[in-house]
Formats: sequence, C-alpha cells, structure tokens
Amino acid sequence: MPAENSLSINGNTFSFTPGETILEVAHRNSIDIPTLCHLKRATPTGACRMCLVEVKGARSLVASCAAPAAPNMEIQTETAKVVEARRIVLQLLLSSGNHNCAVSGSAADNWTEFQLKVQQAEAVTELCPVWGDCRLQDLAFRYQVTGERFEPTETSYPMETANPFIMRDFSRCIQCGRCVQACNEVQVNQAIHFGYRGAATKIIAAGDRPYINSDCVFCGECVQACPVGALVEKDSRYEARPWETRKVRTTCSYCGVGCQLYLHVRDNTVVKITGVDDVAPNYGSLCVKGRFGFDFIHSPDRLKAPLIKENGSFREATWDEALDLVAGKFKQIRAEHGSDSIGMLTSARITNEENYIAQKFARAVIGTNNVDHCARL
Ligand code: SF4
Ligand code: SF4
Ligand code: SF4
Ligand code: FES
Repeated sequence: MPAENSLSINGNTFSFTPGETILEVAHRNSIDIPTLCHLKRATPTGACRMCLVEVKGARSLVASCAAPAAPNMEIQTETAKVVEARRIVLQLLLSSGNHNCAVSGSAADNWTEFQLKVQQAEAVTELCPVWGDCRLQDLAFRYQVTGERFEPTETSYPMETANPFIMRDFSRCIQCGRCVQACNEVQVNQAIHFGYRGAATKIIAAGDRPYINSDCVFCGECVQACPVGALVEKDSRYEARPWETRKVRTTCSYCGVGCQLYLHVRDNTVVKITGVDDVAPNYGSLCVKGRFGFDFIHSPDRLKAPLIKENGSFREATWDEALDLVAGKFKQIRAEHGSDSIGMLTSARITNEENYIAQKFARAVIGTNNVDHCARL
C-alpha cells in the first residue's frame, strides 16, 4: 500500500482505499466510533453528529461517517472535546420528545440507580418498549448523560397504531433518518420521507397518511433500522424484554431465496424475527412474510398428522396409510389414463433438493415430464 493511502487514528497508522470514509477505516480496524444516523448500504447524511472526531488541522470537529479518508490525516476519536460534543448531542436528543428511560428523576450522579429502578418497574406500561435495546439509551449510559440539561420539548403527533404490524411512536423519534434511508435506499420502496419543517418535522408516508394507506409494503426494514423506540413491531411490543429472549439463527421457510434470520425466542415461543446483518443473501433485509408471518409456528391449527377425506370430511390417518392411498391413486390414474395424465407442481417454499427429488419422482417413477414450479409463474 503506498504511503499516500495511509492515515493515523489515535496514534496508530492504517491504510485505506480511496473512497472509504474515516468511520469505515476505523470500524474495519476495530476502533469504536459511536453512530446514530449512519446506516450501512446507504448514503451518509451526517445528520446526528454522534460520530464526530478530531482531525488535526481541521477548523471544527468532523463527522467521520461522511468524511472521506485522506492521506496523512491525524485523527483522534475520543478526546475531551469530542466527548463533550457527543454529550451535548445526546443531551439535546434526550430532552426532545419522550425518552423517559433517561430523563425522569435522573441526575447524572444517580443515573445507574435510576436505570435499575426502571428495570424493576416491568408493569409500567408507559416505559419505553425498547428499554435495554436502544442505541440512544446505550450511548446515554456510555457518556453518562440525561436529558435534563436542556428544556424538554414535546411532540404533538399521536402514536400511529392503524396497521397490523408496526407501531409508530413519534414522541421517541430522534429524526436520524435511518428509516427513510432503509425504505428508500435499501429496499427501494420510496414509502416514507421527511415532512414539515423545523420543530414540526416528522417522518411521513404518502403526504402524512398512516402506513396502511400509503405505498408501504410492511417489509419492516424501517423498524429494524430505527435505533430507538419510535418504530416497533406491534405484536412483540411489550411481549418480551431483550434480555429475556435468546436469538436462534435460521433460514426463512417462506421461499427459495433462503434469507437468514434470527428468531427471538422467549419461553420456547417466537416473539419477534429480525434479519441477520452482513450475511448473504439478504444482508439483514426481510419481506413482510419473513419478518411478521410467524403466528403459524405456534398455531393450534397446525396439522400434526395426515388427513384423509372420506364422505366429505377429513379424518386423521397414519403416514403409512396416507402414502399407500396416494401411491395407489397414482397407479390407478396412470393405468387408466397414461403417465402424461399426471403433472407435478412444486413449490418455492421447499428447498432445491426437495424440488429436485420431486421432478425426479415425476420423471423416473411416474414417467412424465409434466413438471412445473410456482416460482416460474
Ligand atoms: S427510545 Fe431509547 S432513549 Fe428513548 S425512552 Fe426508549 S429506550 Fe430510552
Ligand atoms: S415497512 Fe418497509 S415499505 Fe413500509 S415504510 Fe418501512 S421500510 Fe418502507
Ligand atoms: S423513526 Fe426511528 S429511524 Fe426513523 S427518523 Fe425516527 S428515530 Fe430515526
Ligand atoms: S453517525 Fe455520523 S453524523 Fe450520524
């Protein structure tokens, strides 16, 4: 690597590829710079100023998520000046809207005590649903700040509950813009935007209509991107605190894409699903089925045994009985009408291997090339 493509961070020298940002070079080398608005796979906006760093010779602190790395830069990521700037950003955000985990009755010297009190108050329904899983709260803890330094500002927008999947609590929105970028740049759905101006700024869908009356397809990418409690899955809200669940990685069973996801499991019950970041093929993204369609897992209506229809109604059967019946019917149809009177339609919901077996069965056992697949439609 030529010397002109190197810089120093906290006194250590690192190489960079032209086009990389300071933040990318730092994170690639395991140097922690906190962020709030930065979203991988999207254009940096420099909106939150949490990632400020000191660059020698620069007139002011630099937003590392948006600043390109340059030769011979000398960067410091955690100086007193940087820390003070981050503390002010956090204090402003915490005093804006309803951040009750870090505001009410808390002074800087009893912050931890206050948090513990909140943690014990499980029954307090006004307690933020993402308590314990919030980037803003994490950073408030890291920099030991509350929202009491500045005059609190309230939001007048009511919570939006009018859809089956997502709760929008504008009182907790920090206007970082990650949801807008997730929707427009990652999923390319173009369903939400910044609306209004100044203190009235709000994330809006379709000229400020509820999601349900907009172009939203309920992929939930915005929910996964939201660093605070402004966008939360409706079904899992208050269902379980993050520390009560364990994450089980698996493959989505809805189609052949094979999206990687985490099941969030509490007491052997799936309470929420999120995508696995940085992993092919979906890199954290999911569709509405993969993210929200998990009721069936614990449905009492799930079939647990084969059913055979007799005289217009179903009765439970054993697998041997059911398979014998189907095999007998295949033989009978083939004998009476020939192999090509049978066709095999398979599904995108099964694996490639299962699809292979199905077509092999059609060609080699039944003796027909009448094979098709729903994903081709
Ligand atoms: S959104 Fe985060 S900072 Fe705000 S109340 Fe909820 S947990 Fe606290
Ligand atoms: S659920 Fe998907 S489509 Fe709807 S606003 Fe969020 S990211 Fe956009
Ligand atoms: S809803 Fe969440 S992701 Fe969107 S701007 Fe507000 S805080 Fe950021
Ligand atoms: S993370 Fe860089 S400005 Fe928000």
